[in-house]
Amino acid sequence: MRILVTGGAGYIGSHAVRALTRAGHQPVVLDNLVYGHADIVEKTLKVPLVLGQVGDREVLEPLLRGRHPALDGTALEGKPIEAVLHFAAYAYVGESVSDPAKYYRNNLGDTLTLLEALVATERPLPIVFSSTCATYGIPQQVPITEDHPQAPINPYGRSKWMVEQLLTDFAAAYGLPSVIFRYFNAAGADPDGDLGEDHDPETHLIPRVLDTMSGREPYLQIFGDDYPTPDGTCIRDYIHVADLADAHVLGLERLLRLREREETERKPLIYNLGNGTGYSVQQVIETAKAVTGRGLLAHVAKRREGDPPQLVAGATRAHQELGWRPRYPELETIIEHAWAWHQRRHQA
Ligand code: UFG
Repeated sequence: MRILVTGGAGYIGSHAVRALTRAGHQPVVLDNLVYGHADIVEKTLKVPLVLGQVGDREVLEPLLRGRHPALDGTALEGKPIEAVLHFAAYAYVGESVSDPAKYYRNNLGDTLTLLEALVATERPLPIVFSSTCATYGIPQQVPITEDHPQAPINPYGRSKWMVEQLLTDFAAAYGLPSVIFRYFNAAGADPDGDLGEDHDPETHLIPRVLDTMSGREPYLQIFGDDYPTPDGTCIRDYIHVADLADAHVLGLERLLRLREREETERKPLIYNLGNGTGYSVQQVIETAKAVTGRGLLAHVAKRREGDPPQLVAGATRAHQELGWRPRYPELETIIEHAWAWHQRRHQA
């Protein structure tokens, strides 16, 4: 089945492309390459890449009908898209505060255009959407289940929350089938070692720890050690990117099955994706030391604005309804895979 993967040249999208291919689907990537990597799509994943913006109807509409040429000249004629995994988004929380227009234009505005194109086809095309635990804001309790109230505290989280509202309204009005995945902290790298996290700038904890351990950064800043947690540093639920990718295939297949049986409900299926276990910044550092055998210089800095003390997923719904079982739930394994990728990436 031909599946459009927006943002497939990015971190989570590229892992999903691999999972789709392994499940027998035929992904086509649409990416503007602002943060994505063309070589990963063309050389590592070896799938067609279309360069363009999700909000560009002139690219989107022929593409959905299978009439847009990929960069490598592969003919896509006659092979219409049957579903979409929508990863493309900007995801720097700090930048979203200083330049919200960029976030609302790209993450919200472009997605509206995409959804309009999906319902303009003969039968609305199913979509799996990448949302985030950032839509919950500061949680009232952990673990956070899907029915926890949503109150995002920055424009990035709000842009994702607003798309969730669009999906709800499009499902009710036009019967658009959708899955909303709220990721906790995506981390790790493909166990094969040829895909991984490659952000510029890099803001996430695990790659920053590894950058410091490998001498690429002089020291790590720990953003606050006076939180109401056992060691005073923030707690997060780290989920292996390959497990996220697997969940996407399961979510997509569930949508397709429901549609086949004409059992699609007129509302999105919503799932948290996390392991249900939290680790503090300090515990991440200690685990990374054990995995890599290296030390690092760390300074306690002031709190980073907008960081909730604890984010831990209640993800039993995804287990029960999708049969999702994370293959790499251990933090050690997540960091081992991230470290293998880090070494390969920076030696090359
Ligand atoms: N941290 C440090 N030092 C660093 C980097 C991070 O102490 O150099 C701390 C942060 O303060 C936070 C924890 O490590 O307490 C994790 O930070 P990340 O930046 O790795 O991830 P976040 O928890 O901020 O991730 C959030 C949401 C995601 C969202 C993502 C956007 O949890 O849902 O921001 O990139 F998608």
